[in-house]
Amino acid sequence: MGATEALREDHRLAWRLEALIVACCERLEAGGDVPLGDIEAISGVIDGFMDAVHHAREENTYFACVGAYGMASEIRAFLIEHEFARRVAAKVARHAARWRAGEDAREPVCRFLRAYATFLRDHMTKEEAFFDEAEEALSAEEEAEMRDYFAAAGPDAAAARRAEEAIAALEAAPWSQGGAVRR
Ligand SMILES: [Fe+2]
Ligand SMILES: [Fe+2]
Repeated sequence: MGATEALREDHRLAWRLEALIVACCERLEAGGDVPLGDIEAISGVIDGFMDAVHHAREENTYFACVGAYGMASEIRAFLIEHEFARRVAAKVARHAARWRAGEDAREPVCRFLRAYATFLRDHMTKEEAFFDEAEEALSAEEEAEMRDYFAAAGPDAAAARRAEEAIAALEAAPWSQGGAVRR
């Protein structure tokens, strides 16, 4: 597996996260209940995996390497979208904290989670087409070198494992049944 495939692997986890977010919002908007702890777990996966691991892999390593082959406008757009996603994620965390403090923050939590799910769908669809193109340009050595670099970052591997466990636990929660596995 090269670096491109490793990023596709991250995306497979992110698509599961997207489905969970949609299921969570649908439940809340229908007046149902989703435990706040589960929403905090979603927020934890967004911050601890999507941003700290996946976006960092793309920004610090992959885009930097692929940029040598051109595709600068696509990369610039992806970086702006990552920045947008960080702001949305911060809003989710802030309103979840208000909810934790006893305020009624369900509506903004839902609104920003919906925005995050929309970001995920749009961004990952474009990026996956970009990965196909980048894979053609990258040499086998570059793919292997970046993959080894990802693998050498021990805390990232641990964070990815934790995210996978958190997602599997959320998929087993009663509120996500039937809504979380669409892909
Ligand atoms: Fe990205
Ligand atoms: Fe990505």
